[in-house]
Amino acid sequence: MKEETLVLIKPDAVGKSVIGKIIAIYEENGLSVRAAKMMRMTRELAAKHYEEHIGRPYYEELVEFMTGGPIIAMIISGEDAIKRVREINGKTNPKEAAEGTIRKLFAQDGSKNAVHASDSPESAKRERNIFFAEAEIF
Ligand code: PPS
Repeated sequence: MKEETLVLIKPDAVGKSVIGKIIAIYEENGLSVRAAKMMRMTRELAAKHYEEHIGRPYYEELVEFMTGGPIIAMIISGEDAIKRVREINGKTNPKEAAEGTIRKLFAQDGSKNAVHASDSPESAKRERNIFFAEAEIF
């Protein structure tokens, strides 16, 4: 089924200048970029995006990191995009990520882990509306 998912290239990956390499990996896997913008995540935006993580022990560290530098927000589309993008990204902890995944290639640890992607159709829809207006999606 054709789907859309929300991807964030996190500040660590933007800082390493691997934006192009990461986008190329999605495109080489038959997925397409439908929307993209470089932006700085505010604490307010982080609280919306990561609302289910508020109160968890790592929440403050996560927000500090995500607001600490620019990110790229994107909507990626394609067949089974939600599951496939998460497979292409690899496990949260790069030590557990499979060879060839974005996190194996570019992540340092479970926090500085290069990319975020929606984990379900519900979160894809919710996160899409946090980052993009209809007119920004092509
Ligand atoms: S869960 O419970 O399965 O949703 O958790 P998980 O997918 O492992 O992690 C959710 C997001 O929190 C980030 N994370 C952390 N950030 C900072 N410090 C620590 N210790 C930490 N542990 C997890 C993790 O990178 C996930 O970010 P996203 O943006 O969703 O990939």
